[in-house]
Amino acid sequence: MKRILITGATSAIAQEAGRLFAADGAALLLVGRNADKLAAVADDLRARGADKVESEVIDLLDLARCSRLIDEAVEKLGGLDALLVAQGTLPDQAVCEGNPVQALREFSLNAMGPITLLLRAATYFETQRGGCLAVITSIAGVRGRRSNYIYGSAKAAVSTFMEGLRGRMREAGVSVVDIRPGFVDTPMTAHLSKGPLFATASSVGERVYRAMIAGDSVVYTPWFWRWIALVIQLIPRAIFSKLPI
Ligand SMILES: NC(=O)c1ccc[n+]([C@@H]2O[C@H](COP(=O)([O-])OP(=O)(O)OC[C@H]3O[C@@H](n4cnc5c(N)ncnc54)[C@H](OP(=O)(O)O)[C@@H]3O)[C@@H](O)[C@H]2O)c1
Repeated sequence: MKRILITGATSAIAQEAGRLFAADGAALLLVGRNADKLAAVADDLRARGADKVESEVIDLLDLARCSRLIDEAVEKLGGLDALLVAQGTLPDQAVCEGNPVQALREFSLNAMGPITLLLRAATYFETQRGGCLAVITSIAGVRGRRSNYIYGSAKAAVSTFMEGLRGRMREAGVSVVDIRPGFVDTPMTAHLSKGPLFATASSVGERVYRAMIAGDSVVYTPWFWRWIALVIQLIPRAIFSKLPI
């Protein structure tokens, strides 16, 4: 896995995964919306051994721009072996409930941008007959919770999309890797009080890297979230809707 496009490359989790790819000597195209942060991440990855690091400053809410990114990555990196989609926002649910425009912005960043990128990259990898499509989704997509269903439904949309895409890509030998972290201590969760269920960005980033190398399908990280997800899925709807979560 030598030529990798990372969108949302300034994400704390993506940076940690990027470091491991850099140490393998990968060529990377980093995409993010903040030029200064992106430049700092690019310098770090060069220092850690990346063969080449290019960057593009893009607001990933711009779906037309997202749809051109795969061609740009192929051109800049001389081909493409993997896509890692890491951008995301944790919306203020109460604000979104009163503001559908804001709610759809959040939904678009968390679901429509990733799906746009997946569709473009899937066509490229299908023709190439190989590649890795990876997205950091979330445990939040497993069930719609009243406190978090804007974010959760966007992540669920991507996970369901990836499940179907995995079937389409099977014959072409393309892996479709859905990484579902639980709580991770990153800027996205800076406003939340931390408990024992919080993982570090470095442990989750390392799991992202390993899952992409192995071509895993669905990965809960840390591992215990698989069992928590199972329990959550088994709660009857009538009980689930009464839970204050
Ligand atoms: N932290 C958690 O508990 C957790 C749990 C499950 C899943 N996840 C998922 O993990 C992924 C990485 O998040 P993280 O935890 O590493 O948090 P993070 O460090 O806050 O990363 C979020 C990334 O999204 C980027 N982004 C947001 N809006 C953007 C836009 N309009 N255009 C371009 N980039 C944009 C941010 O860019 P800036 O740096 O410019 O803000 C940042 O790079 C996200 O998809 C998130 O949903 C996180």
